[in-house]
Amino acid sequence: MGFNIGISGATGVTGEVTLRILQERGFPVDSLRLFASRRSAGQKLKFKGTDVVVQALEDGNFAGLDLLISATSAAIARQWAPRAVQAGVIVIDQSSAFRQDPSVPLVVPEINGADLAGHNGTIAGPNCTTAVAVMAVAPLHLAVGVESVISSSYQAMSGKGRDGILEFLNASASAVNQSEGLRGHESLQVAAPVQFPHLSAFNLFPQCEEFAAGKDTSTEEEKMEAEMRKMLHAPDLVVHATAVRVPVLVGHSVSLTISLKEPLSPQQARRLFESFPGVRLLDEPSERRYPTPLAAAGIDEILVGRIRTVPFVRNGLSVFACGDNLRKGNALNAIQVAEQVLGIR
Ligand SMILES: NC(=O)c1ccc[n+]([C@@H]2O[C@H](COP(=O)([O-])OP(=O)(O)OC[C@H]3O[C@@H](n4cnc5c(N)ncnc54)[C@H](OP(=O)(O)O)[C@@H]3O)[C@@H](O)[C@H]2O)c1
Repeated sequence: MGFNIGISGATGVTGEVTLRILQERGFPVDSLRLFASRRSAGQKLKFKGTDVVVQALEDGNFAGLDLLISATSAAIARQWAPRAVQAGVIVIDQSSAFRQDPSVPLVVPEINGADLAGHNGTIAGPNCTTAVAVMAVAPLHLAVGVESVISSSYQAMSGKGRDGILEFLNASASAVNQSEGLRGHESLQVAAPVQFPHLSAFNLFPQCEEFAAGKDTSTEEEKMEAEMRKMLHAPDLVVHATAVRVPVLVGHSVSLTISLKEPLSPQQARRLFESFPGVRLLDEPSERRYPTPLAAAGIDEILVGRIRTVPFVRNGLSVFACGDNLRKGNALNAIQVAEQVLGIR
């Protein structure tokens, strides 16, 4: 038996990856409805070799759908997801709109899939960087408990969606032949950034998303803190996050300094990571084997390595992890949730 599936934001970067993964996993799709803005209505996207015509989300054509994967901005999700739920559709929303609603489960199936049991029609997926970080923290937390996490993330340009990707690639192409400008000897001749607060090519900046007035922590960093606590059922967990945008196309990286409730050696931690579903251990630094975003791009697992004791942190361990922000950070996780909710696999 198959299901009637909808994707809103189907023309965006994570919508595209969602379509790809549904095909890769042989997800049982009886019918597929694709939604985007009015601008894209009528456009055709391929699914299993067949053209599917994009519809305007605002026409609200949800009747008969079993499940909608919502990959739009939070503002649009807030407007349309409740209407889909009202029409009897299960909505898995990838934006931040519902993540902190106590009645909405925020789920990474390998970690807290059991939270799906009480869902009321809306289910949230985590922020892309939180998804990578929580997969590296959960195996340790489930074994001995985690007191605190200091996270420094190195976030890919595709985290800013289709328009961010375009700006980054265009800026890279125009800057690449300006070595004097990139060395600071001349002014760079590049288009002013629109999607990012600074030039995205050959640069990095400690700002992902925005700083609300009077706040020194960005909205992206706040998400990591709150979402990690919710998914790990650890309201007292102390999380301190610094989010940095780096000139990588796909693949978010996190450097985590973790204080555990009980000591674990790096070797014990490696064994925990090796046996955790969805995690692949890569920890032979002398052989140049450790996670990189490029190695994580296009694969399902979160890569974890560089596991070391941190002597000045109580029961301290540090870990470096990389994951594909468009797959486990978004589309793959949503489809895994869908599989669990619909009883597939
Ligand atoms: N990129 C990531 O790594 C990542 C990871 C985790 C979560 N997320 C979240 O996932 C969501 C989608 O992100 P994305 O990166 O895929 O964005 P994106 O590439 O910018 O795509 C945005 C999608 O939203 C659609 N849209 C825009 N305005 C609309 C409207 N008025 N009505 C209906 N649809 C509209 C766009 O359709 P048109 O083509 O018609 O404009 C497009 O399909 C966001 O909430 C984001 O925060 C992203």
